[in-house]
Amino acid sequence: MTIYDKIERTLQQLGVSDARGVESLFAELQKTAEQERAELVSRGAPDQPQRDRLCKALRDRWLARKGGVLSRVDENWLKPAGKELKPVVGRQFNDLRRWTASLEFEKLAEALPLQEAPVKQVELPLTTGAGRAVPRDLTLPGLRRPLGSVHPVTRMQREIEDIFLRLGFWIESGPEIESTYYNFDALNIPESHPSRDDWDTFYIDAKTVLRTHTSPVQIRAMEKYGAPLYIIIPGKCYRHDNPDATHYPMFHQIEGLAIDKDITFADLKGTLDFFAKMLFGEKVRTRFQPSFFPFTEPSGEVAVSCFVCDGQGCRVCKESGWIELMGCGMVHPQVLRYGGIDPDKYSGWAFGLGVDRFAMVKHDINDIQLFFQGDVRFLEQF
Ligand code: PHE
Repeated sequence: MTIYDKIERTLQQLGVSDARGVESLFAELQKTAEQERAELVSRGAPDQPQRDRLCKALRDRWLARKGGVLSRVDENWLKPAGKELKPVVGRQFNDLRRWTASLEFEKLAEALPLQEAPVKQVELPLTTGAGRAVPRDLTLPGLRRPLGSVHPVTRMQREIEDIFLRLGFWIESGPEIESTYYNFDALNIPESHPSRDDWDTFYIDAKTVLRTHTSPVQIRAMEKYGAPLYIIIPGKCYRHDNPDATHYPMFHQIEGLAIDKDITFADLKGTLDFFAKMLFGEKVRTRFQPSFFPFTEPSGEVAVSCFVCDGQGCRVCKESGWIELMGCGMVHPQVLRYGGIDPDKYSGWAFGLGVDRFAMVKHDINDIQLFFQGDVRFLEQF
């Protein structure tokens, strides 16, 4: 119970019945008054009006006729005091009155040290979740958020896109959930082809798959735009692969497709050789080997001489001097037909490359899984 609670009760209620008890109560009051005064002096006041206000508040708390500490003591301790205690209480009360007068609360205003007014803080009405307003010091240094970076696969994709955009290609995209018609049939991939097995492909239902490559967008674009057509198609692809250092069930491809009158294999070779030099440097050479895809005829595999060792053999090219880049070929006439383009009037070439693999080669990364684990310690290196 504070002394402020005690002055609201009679001595009887407080259980005080002798002179000693009365004296200690008054001593407590005196100490409180002294403390409050000392506190005010040590705190000071920012300006004159504030100084006057603080001093008046202290004076009123103790000496106000109505509700002041002394008037409460008169009311609750002195007046109801029993015969034996009344003289003691009266004497103590008079002493206290004299003593508080000597504290000269009124004059205190002139003695109170004036402080420099503190710099006004700008308070933004920022509220916390609890709805409390939090003052903000705008002079404090700001919070720095760690800067992110472009994902290495996205960056690789953009680099490749830029080269083809310069050649006049544009960027096309298609759905990742694809029909078996576009993903297989229209690309001349027969029912019996192993890539249609559900060991290799994620089926959503018998006629719907997660696309296994970006090639179905070839057909979609032919249907949509007809010929001539110069596009690249970046995007995610999915295969039923167990993750290891070079496989992941989701990966990124960029498809290229050029269809026009009199397009030949020479155009394909020239374009891809230019592309390789733009990406890996003027010095690199390209190598075309025969291969097979149901949707191109003839088909090829493109490799580039190792840009690290210049074909001598090193870790990046696995001592072979060559780095496999992509599959390619002349668009099969049947595929042009599926796309609604007359193969007697038009011809074209296409390629498909793995963006993740390109990024791995470029940055000498030995595990494709690192790209997709979201570990910032890995990602912030790019
Ligand atoms: N779609 C083929 C694949 O995923 C790549 C490719 C595209 C080959 C275009 C030739 C032409 O392996």
